[in-house]
Amino acid sequence: MPSTVILGTGSYAPDRVLTNAELSTKVDTSDEWIRSRSGIRERRIAAPGEATSDMAVKAAQAALVDAGITATDIDLLIVATITPDLPLPAASCIIQHKLGMRTNTACFDLNAACSGFVYALDTASAMLASGRYRRGLVIGAEKLSSIVDWQDRTTCVLFGDGAGAAVLGQSEQPGIGLLGTKLGAYGDCVDLLCITHGGSSNPTTPESIAARNHCIRMKGKEVFKLAVRAMDEAARDILEQHQLHADQIGLVIPHQANLRIIEAISQYLELPMERFFVNVERYGNTSAASIPLALDEARRTGLIKPGDLTLLVAFGAGLTYGSALIRW
Ligand code: COA
Repeated sequence: MPSTVILGTGSYAPDRVLTNAELSTKVDTSDEWIRSRSGIRERRIAAPGEATSDMAVKAAQAALVDAGITATDIDLLIVATITPDLPLPAASCIIQHKLGMRTNTACFDLNAACSGFVYALDTASAMLASGRYRRGLVIGAEKLSSIVDWQDRTTCVLFGDGAGAAVLGQSEQPGIGLLGTKLGAYGDCVDLLCITHGGSSNPTTPESIAARNHCIRMKGKEVFKLAVRAMDEAARDILEQHQLHADQIGLVIPHQANLRIIEAISQYLELPMERFFVNVERYGNTSAASIPLALDEARRTGLIKPGDLTLLVAFGAGLTYGSALIRW
């Protein structure tokens, strides 16, 4: 049976760098606090008028060049995002048009928050395996600066903007490609990380806007604990499924939320930090963009070679989690 393979990757981060020092002039925080609690030094912020779709298009164009195909070769587009350009329609339709894709391309958005790229990878892989689609484009793109409460120091220091993309196809070569995925969610923990207003249960009102209830709210300590547990479990489960030991993984690409979360997973899996790709210090948490952005940087810096095993592991609002195992 053919397997799903990654034919190319691409990423994009806006030019504007927001440093911890600059943030500490806006809220009561410090470079020392942010770095010691999260590992983040700076994050990128989209330009005024730059939407999620604009960043997604740039990442997708780079991924298409890397794969050596054009946008018209794609017949399936999945965009993982919690910050679509508009509440309606899906960002994927806007991106389809901007990329000049064919109108018989299936387009939809997927919301699994920071686990979105892993969820989208699994979904696209199943759709390609059905035989009804030939080439998939999976994008994780976020403009989190548009939903962050810039007066809330407990959250605004953590997030950033960016995009990453992967072009997917199928291969008959045995033993390579997406070997497996593991997805799940703790739906009983919705309130740990959420936006309380602007949806059907609490539509936007002048009062909700004044209270900035259309922005991200998070119980950081609880999220931290669950993040470590869920990512550790998601990694262990997939390794067990494939009768692999952590030591056989060439590179782990974890969701880039917090350096301390990544260090805790490194300890739990007894795998040294050198096997973990980390760029959280430069981008902060870019939610669904985090893993594809890191994956693209890891590939472009030569950290992934043919035959290597790569483990993606994610965690996000929902609280969702997911892992994916790839042989290159
Ligand atoms: N600057 C300075 N002080 C801050 C601050 C900031 N930006 N944010 C919070 N503080 C203060 C708090 O008010 C608190 O003060 P108090 O003790 O006087 O009440 C103190 O620092 C400690 O806060 P606490 O929340 O206990 O810190 P922490 O060590 O748990 O670190 C996070 C906070 C958010 C970095 C951490 O909990 C975390 O990373 N959680 C996971 C978040 C995450 O990854 N979310 C996305 C998942 S996809």
